Amino acid sequence: MHRIAASSVDWKAIRADFPILREQAHGHPLIYFDSAATSQKPRIVIEALRNFYEHENANVHRGLHTLSSRATEAYEKSRKRVAEYIGAASADEIVFTRGTTESINLVAQAWGGKFIREGDVILLTEMEHHSNLVPWQLLAERTGARLRFVPVRDNGTLDLDQLPSLLKSDVKLFAFTHISNSLGTINPVAQLCEKAHAVGALSLVDAAQSAGHLPMDVRVLGCDFLAFSGHKMCGPTGIGVLYGRADILDSMPPYHGGGEMIVSVALEKSAFKKAPHRFEAGTPSIAGAIGLAAAIDYIEQIGRAAIFEHDSQLARYAADRLTELAGTRVFGPKEERGALVGFVMDAAHPHDLTTFADQYGLAMRGGHHCNQPLMRRFGVSGTTRASFYFYNTVEEIDRMIEILHAAVRFFS
Ligand code: ALA
Repeated sequence: MHRIAASSVDWKAIRADFPILREQAHGHPLIYFDSAATSQKPRIVIEALRNFYEHENANVHRGLHTLSSRATEAYEKSRKRVAEYIGAASADEIVFTRGTTESINLVAQAWGGKFIREGDVILLTEMEHHSNLVPWQLLAERTGARLRFVPVRDNGTLDLDQLPSLLKSDVKLFAFTHISNSLGTINPVAQLCEKAHAVGALSLVDAAQSAGHLPMDVRVLGCDFLAFSGHKMCGPTGIGVLYGRADILDSMPPYHGGGEMIVSVALEKSAFKKAPHRFEAGTPSIAGAIGLAAAIDYIEQIGRAAIFEHDSQLARYAADRLTELAGTRVFGPKEERGALVGFVMDAAHPHDLTTFADQYGLAMRGGHHCNQPLMRRFGVSGTTRASFYFYNTVEEIDRMIEILHAAVRFFS
């Protein structure tokens, strides 16, 4: 059984930074194990949003007045902060979007629309979340491209032995998740990007479950695109990031048309700004970008390596303890996993189990996790998922196990 290593970080003090963790649900202290769906927000992020609306709120890039300059400066400073956080060469490689889903749709439409032809292949994996699957299905329908999938082994890892027969010169893009939102599998991103490049394909990494959880540098990973959401890493909802290598973003046509992304407009034709502004039509989530930068400052104060160690140990501890419960099947790799564990119990359907747990203040997610093909691969309609972040504790996991024991008694 894994033990939580002593660490120099005062995790209890950090927990106090999250006002919502003092909430109760059904008369019980809240245990929030649904951070893979959305994380909670520390006070400092909530205050950054409040400060923006109280002191800086105006539209960006448009006005010649003081507040508009403040808002523009804060928004563009946030872009630089994101670039530093992921090791991008320049802030021009950072496009603000609404989230991971929009980032991937942007690539599928703007890059895919220009560069993908009938017969080309987009290589995906069987563990992709719908947001890294459906945009490619739509692209394939529009263009006559084909989709191919790297299979998942029973232990929840990618079957990379199959890669030589799948990743061939007809593949134009290899798009895969960094950490599976259902299995917790951590994929070998740098190795996969290198293999993609070796056949002349580009790579896209879905970093929704990893950007706030572990150290990451896009130049070390060697990826061409990387997508993530602010709300899963202590930031606000409605803000996300698409990182794209500068030369690739420059080669792409606009995604949405409208204000902010143009240099000049005539009735019949317009000229567009350079990347990244070319891809940000309309008023962006200004407060969202500022809140995301505050979240990044906060996460970096703690340290991503410490967060990863803490969270993955919690997840392994939870996976170990779940095996105590009779009739329980735990998904995902045993040795190394991200901050979550998915499981099914003979005693009850995931929806019933999750609803039962809620009666004790325990928030988990039950269902297919926007991962229907993967659920089918494992022969289940869904799982119950407990997902963790650095504000969770071993004691909360122990309490989860007690509640699940109670569930077994109740349902049988
Ligand atoms: N990707 C989010 C989750 O896994 C929605 O819950």
